[in-house]
Amino acid sequence: MKNDRMHQYWQHAWQPFTQMKLASEPPVIERGEGIYLYTSDGTEIIDAVGSWWVNIHGHSNARMNRAIADQLGKIEHVIYAGFAHDKALELSEKLSELTSHNLPRVFFSDNGSTAVEIALKMAYQYNVNAGRTEKKEFLALGGGYHGDTIGAMSVGARSVFHEAFSPLLFPCRYAEFPEIPFEKQDTIECEVLIDPYLKKLEQIFSEHGKNLCGFILEPVLQGAGGMNIYPESYLRHARKLCDQHDVFLIADEVFTGIGRTGTMFACEKAGIWPDLMALSKGLSGGYLPFAATLATEKIFQGFNSDDRRHTLFHGHSMTGSALGCAASLESLDIMKTENRLDDVKRIEQFHKNRLTDLRNGKLSEKIKEVRYTGSVGIVEFNLDQEYTGEFGWEFQKIAVKNGILLRTLGPVVYMTPAYMISDEELEQIYRCLENTASELLL
Ligand SMILES: Cc1ncc(COP(=O)(O)O)c(C=O)c1O
Repeated sequence: MKNDRMHQYWQHAWQPFTQMKLASEPPVIERGEGIYLYTSDGTEIIDAVGSWWVNIHGHSNARMNRAIADQLGKIEHVIYAGFAHDKALELSEKLSELTSHNLPRVFFSDNGSTAVEIALKMAYQYNVNAGRTEKKEFLALGGGYHGDTIGAMSVGARSVFHEAFSPLLFPCRYAEFPEIPFEKQDTIECEVLIDPYLKKLEQIFSEHGKNLCGFILEPVLQGAGGMNIYPESYLRHARKLCDQHDVFLIADEVFTGIGRTGTMFACEKAGIWPDLMALSKGLSGGYLPFAATLATEKIFQGFNSDDRRHTLFHGHSMTGSALGCAASLESLDIMKTENRLDDVKRIEQFHKNRLTDLRNGKLSEKIKEVRYTGSVGIVEFNLDQEYTGEFGWEFQKIAVKNGILLRTLGPVVYMTPAYMISDEELEQIYRCLENTASELLL
């Protein structure tokens, strides 16, 4: 009876990034606990992707649940313009502190795309306010993904995700992605391999720097563009060029932020701070739709004026939601008090060992590259397939049947689990990955 009802409801569903005609009816999840999801008939599925990279403390975490319930007993939301509440102010201060006060101004929104849109608008309007109308172009690192709203799409790669909208997107310059084999990124040879990319970046800045207002990139790890990792030295060079040419460096840490790559923010791996930083996903632990755009004091001061026309004219009805702020404060506190960055380091070591085994095992001929950083483990198979290719979709279907929620990006299979996952659970994921790939490729 219950299944019949779900079947009826499914006739009204329209899911993201899903070709509904080709999609089978999905497992319906009734509850979650830690790393596990449970369907109404009791089937257990390991969530190996933290439900689209958002869940970092496990499902139904007692501390997260309590923090949200406590807040619900006080105030769920209050207009965050002309009014404020203690959790939004406390969270603003906390985020500033986490950036060692390099990014002391915090603007809230609801999701990663809007956090990016806001950063773009801040970089752009800062220059409008200052009367520097020549600085109106954006540079983006090639192959990036920054979300699905028009501005975020405009600075992302013009891939299959967004090609239908090309005529609507504003023009953007792209810097070539530094494609360095992963195993060479920690070696001396990397300096030689990366040099041509740094030179090309310098060229873009010397030709167009005077017209650029912002350079946007995903630091260290590009997510939806294919889970690609690049050397930290590129970020240091980008920082230097942005300083020289008066261009704001915009770090999209929607995916990488809050510990995902082993430091609180991926920019810290390169020892740099951006001028603007977009955060979402793990910020609220993946419990509520929530995001923040962090800015330097210099950028804030570009809007801080007696002239009301210099106001940042951007806002959302649910900006600064008290529930989202309470969840985010608890998520950050769990990171600290439960030493979650140590867990991420443990997971990284596990990925390193297990991916090396995989690379040298029976699938070796079928694997193009394995990569890892922090909690993210990646296998790129030797297949000439795009996102729309059948391999990935088949892979996901078989993996779920085998009890693991894994996602793919074309020939790339990745793991982005919550940080409290145990080594045994990681091993279960790897076994499933190996068996599923063998079933499809051997
Ligand atoms: C780096 C990056 N930026 C922005 C976004 C967009 O975030 P949202 O899906 O919350 O709009 C994503 C989503 O995957 C992302 O990975």
